[in-house]
Amino acid sequence: MANDPYRQLPDRGRTEGGLRSLGYIGVETRRLDDWADFASGLLGMQLVDRRDRGFVLRTDERAARVLVEDGTSERVAVMGWEVADAEALAALAARLSDAGHAVAPGDRDLAERRRVAGLLVARDPLGNRLEFFHGAADAPKPFVPGRAISGFRTGSLGLGHVVLTARSPEAVIPFYTELLGFRLSDYALRPFRAWFFHLNSRHHSFALIGTGADGFHHLMVELDSLDDVGQAYDLAQLDDGRVGVTLGRHSNDHMTSFYARSPSGFMIEYGWGGRSIDPESWRPFECDFGPSFWGHERAWLPLDKRAEALRLRLAAAAAGRRAPDFVRGDD
Ligand SMILES: [Fe+2]
Repeated sequence: MANDPYRQLPDRGRTEGGLRSLGYIGVETRRLDDWADFASGLLGMQLVDRRDRGFVLRTDERAARVLVEDGTSERVAVMGWEVADAEALAALAARLSDAGHAVAPGDRDLAERRRVAGLLVARDPLGNRLEFFHGAADAPKPFVPGRAISGFRTGSLGLGHVVLTARSPEAVIPFYTELLGFRLSDYALRPFRAWFFHLNSRHHSFALIGTGADGFHHLMVELDSLDDVGQAYDLAQLDDGRVGVTLGRHSNDHMTSFYARSPSGFMIEYGWGGRSIDPESWRPFECDFGPSFWGHERAWLPLDKRAEALRLRLAAAAAGRRAPDFVRGDD
């Protein structure tokens, strides 16, 4: 395909980065109490280790999945990616440093705060702080959700996925693919440019969208039950402005979801029923039929792009475009 933006990227040869999944994120906020209510009362995460400076959120047996800390801005301060062991971490450190990227080992204090055995700290070309870690600790007690949900789908799929916005996604993609080993799942050119990447059988653990600004767009967490999502949707609509994207179904990962605005402004996609892919046999393609089969009215998009998204959805509906209903696999 002549206008395939991915094929125009320089092919410097791929290396496997050894990354397994998204392990955790860290949030800096001035609104600790709002975050506690939002994460526990709406999302159903478990709030633990509350201190003056912050708290930790659990979504499963792991001791820490979201680390919320008191600060002077509203942002995702770190994304933590998991590797198998200390050897994989050392190999990754060498690869990043050989490619000219500054890499610093995380000290014992940082490892303890993240509840991991070892980690290193680097930055992506956009300046986002990345941590790579191994040996995540499980909590001593079972997961108890903050509200009555059935649970989060994590395990080998990781915490979920993160989506960044970038002025120039093409300039960032080689860092994630060639150095870190993310593999392209698919990409789209309209209504906005987007590239989706996988590490495991989750369709994407990471995505980049071209919105004209560098930033953090959303974290997706996946629930075990569609009812968990529907009930959160009811709760979210009690708060003016909480829903950032209405309920809908994505055409690429088949997730049924809505997006809630967090107290920090970036969104949390709250989903159910994401497809599982086989990373070995998957072939990337251009997703040219729109990002959603139905729904997902995006309040964050400019009006002309929202109109284009609606046209694509109506075309999908007219064509009877649909995906198989979700069936839980062995993940
Ligand atoms: Fe998403």
